Amino acid sequence: MAALSEHFIGNIEAIVGAAGIIQDAGRMQSYLSDWRNAYHGAAALVVRPASTDEVAAVVRLCHENQIALVPQGGNTGLCGGSIPDASGSQVVLSLTRMTRIREVDPANETITVEAGVILQTVQDAAAEAGRLFPLSLGAEGSCTVGGNLATNAGGTAVLRYGNMRDLTLGLEVVLPDGRIWNGLRGLRKDNTGYDLKHLFIGSEGTLGIITAAVLKLYPAVRSVTTAWVALPNAQAAVGLIGLIRALCGDRLTGFELMSRQSVEFVLSHVAGCSDPFAELHPWYVLIELSDTQLNAPLNELLDLGIGDALERGWVIDAVLASSEAQVAALWRMREGISEAQNHEGPSLKHDISVPVSRIPEFIETTNRHLLEQFPGVRIVAYGHVGDGNLHYNISKPIDAEDAAFKAQQEAVMQTIYDVTVSLHGSISAEHGLGQTKRTAAMRYKDPLELELMRSIKFTFDPRGLMNPGKVI
Ligand code: FAD
Ligand code: MLT
Ligand code: ZN
Repeated sequence: MAALSEHFIGNIEAIVGAAGIIQDAGRMQSYLSDWRNAYHGAAALVVRPASTDEVAAVVRLCHENQIALVPQGGNTGLCGGSIPDASGSQVVLSLTRMTRIREVDPANETITVEAGVILQTVQDAAAEAGRLFPLSLGAEGSCTVGGNLATNAGGTAVLRYGNMRDLTLGLEVVLPDGRIWNGLRGLRKDNTGYDLKHLFIGSEGTLGIITAAVLKLYPAVRSVTTAWVALPNAQAAVGLIGLIRALCGDRLTGFELMSRQSVEFVLSHVAGCSDPFAELHPWYVLIELSDTQLNAPLNELLDLGIGDALERGWVIDAVLASSEAQVAALWRMREGISEAQNHEGPSLKHDISVPVSRIPEFIETTNRHLLEQFPGVRIVAYGHVGDGNLHYNISKPIDAEDAAFKAQQEAVMQTIYDVTVSLHGSISAEHGLGQTKRTAAMRYKDPLELELMRSIKFTFDPRGLMNPGKVI
């Protein structure tokens, strides 16, 4: 490990206090590997400032001493963006002590929160104020607002409310030299030049440290209907979502597709899950309708839509949840896929997007190419169909060696991304590039876009100290 001087460490401790610094190797461990145990790094220090001023002072000191920083929130990211490299010379800057909800303004329909606030805490605070904060994802009990912003997180409600970018009105950011940009404006209209917040959203910690944000609130939802539906093929999902949307408009707030393989993993590994149907089916969707009105006739609407789809041959079977416990059980089947896949050995994760209309073609073509080239791999395809976003995750063949499978990562990615790009899609819809897709982005992104990205990076961070080795 490249040692930092006693003097530098003393200065950091003078800023954040003893509670804000971790030097002990054992206590550092949880900051140095990711949720899947797919990435491992080393760090000189973990620093946990408790205020924006402390973040600014730490960043300024690192800037003066040419020390690279790796911002980290809940460490639930899925492409290694929050994990330092192996050199042991980087400092992990954890925002998890910045947990204040600074303001709830119901009249402006906004909430102002610090970067370390857990997503679920924002949802709860919104609910207490009779409002909804709609970002929702499987890791919501441990991911942070800072991480959500830095990855422009998506999740299951994007088809109705948009992703984190769409939910953000203002930001406070500590720049790589330690200056504080106060862009905490709760305005829905502000045309005073370039909209800088959008550069930081989705920048994965490579342009600055997000310390706080003004987020949009929505009216609370008072009626919800949830259904679990069996489909004959992926094409049927595209037909069905169009039909339900035409019928229900904005009341369609969830439409999650799952292959049989995905559901099988959940049934094998997630406690308390059971198949709602007696028969096996190749594909499933979880549909959610919601409304701000109490007792809105959502069951009737969904019955109507599913009835129509049954006649068209797009639906084989369906159940409507009849209690809150059933709703929770259906969502557990969907949200449990990531965790379940971890039990099946190493996996290669992909979060591609293509135009919604081309999802069936993507699945059909990629399945064919993959199984030809890598016989026995288990394809765990599921995701946010309304956004054209599929998690096309690959688990190793049952009897393959872990190391041999992992060695195929680049080749597997290339097969998947070649099809994605041929269908005018994106190699990352919601998880970002991090370490995993940095090289692939060089291959698949337009050289002009890459050139512009590099010049933005240089403008903000000429010394290259913000999360080096990620994104670009
Ligand atoms: P981290 O993992 O700590 O960091 C992620 C990136 O953001 C890193 O590059 C880090 O350097 C940077 N960063 C973190 N905080 C800051 C900050 N304050 N300032 C600047 N940069 C920062 N993602 C989705 O989009 N949709 C999903 O549906 C979804 N489902 C998931 C389900 C499970 C079970 C899991 C484990 C993950 C899922 N994710 C999903 C991925 C992950 O939860 C999101 O990317 C989340 O936004 C990351 O938040 P975090 O606080 O854990 O960030
Ligand atoms: C999800 O939607 O469950 C996650 O984004 C996907 C994943 O864990 O691969
Ligand atoms: Zn997802």
